[in-house]
Amino acid sequence: VTPLRVAVLGAGTVGTEVLRLLEQQRDDLAHRVGARLQVIGISVRDRTKDRGDHVDPALLTEDPHALVREADLVVELMGGIEPARTLLLEAMAGGASVVTANKALLAQDGAELYEAADAAGVDLHFEAAVAGAIPLVRPIRESLAGDRIQRVLGIVNGTTNYILDAMTRTGAEFDEALASAQRLGYAEADPTADVEGLDAAAKASILASLAFHTRVGLQDVHCEGITSITADDIAAARRLGSVIKLLSIVERIDDEDLGERISARVYPAMIPATHPLASVSEAYNAVFVQADAAGSLMFYGQGAGGSPTASAVLGDLVSVARQRVHGGKGPGESNYASLPIAPIDEL
Ligand code: NDP
Ligand code: HSE
Repeated sequence: VTPLRVAVLGAGTVGTEVLRLLEQQRDDLAHRVGARLQVIGISVRDRTKDRGDHVDPALLTEDPHALVREADLVVELMGGIEPARTLLLEAMAGGASVVTANKALLAQDGAELYEAADAAGVDLHFEAAVAGAIPLVRPIRESLAGDRIQRVLGIVNGTTNYILDAMTRTGAEFDEALASAQRLGYAEADPTADVEGLDAAAKASILASLAFHTRVGLQDVHCEGITSITADDIAAARRLGSVIKLLSIVERIDDEDLGERISARVYPAMIPATHPLASVSEAYNAVFVQADAAGSLMFYGQGAGGSPTASAVLGDLVSVARQRVHGGKGPGESNYASLPIAPIDEL
């Protein structure tokens, strides 16, 4: 069987781990997919940087546009809006399936990307974009597709959880805890997106879009971060038997006058120390999904970091590669209903 040509865009925290796993599990992956996955190029900004043993310098390129034209499968791990958006559109128009971890891009331009994937008849998978290693996108997008989801609620940003946890448990200062989260590879290239709640809001918009089959953009999510949380706030919460967590909540709300609407919000909240979310430590994430028939489901695991995120990326890569080898296409997202969304200033 002809090998599948894989283009990897980005070899940073996540990309290098994806390349390590692709090399380490080469034979197993070929067996699972039914064809070899051949990395034909790795796009980076700076080819001279040392990237460790698992990144073949001969594959590095600073011309991602030429690279995606040659690929069957494109794995986008560069982050940011451009050039990632244009590259993914080019890749799909050229017939390649795409795997991305880029929540910022999906929150801003998801609709355009989903439509491009459906128009080209290719797959667009993004399990790693929400909650790192935790299988959450696939259960909501596929396993619960026949149910009616009422609410998705939890902790979906590892960096802010790490910071709040360190401030609570060890009395660490905010800046010190953030620096540590950056060193461990949890934070975004610009950590403002984490601490201002924007990363969690991007994830909330993706989760709401999938859960309610309605386009929910970043602008529809009420967003408050954790930059104003002080050691005094944390101590006050402790005296009340509570902890502070950054929560993301997307839910259907039934308004007597306006009917059913969607509400999406991210904000720091005091929760009782006995609540299951209170014990979520370090960069772990935990999410509850409530659906009519399924009832309440809980998802928990490592929400950030190179290796956990690479696990989710590889799962998607195996999935899209199998579709290539065996035919067929995974779920699309361009066919939305349109529930009204509650304006954020009402919340
Ligand atoms: P990094 O900043 O560590 O790596 C980004 C990589 O992309 C680098 O290799 C960089 O090249 C390359 N790159 C960036 N911009 C360009 C460009 N314009 N042209 C070519 N190459 C470019 O990011 P992460 O690995 O942490 O994150 C990657 C993606 O995964 C992001 O979308 C992020 O939101 C998402 N994600 C990250 C998680 C994490 O825990 N880190 C978890 C879940 C998702 P160079 O090295 O030369 O600078
Ligand atoms: N910066 C993100 C976080 C990475 O801390 O959760 C995982 O999406």
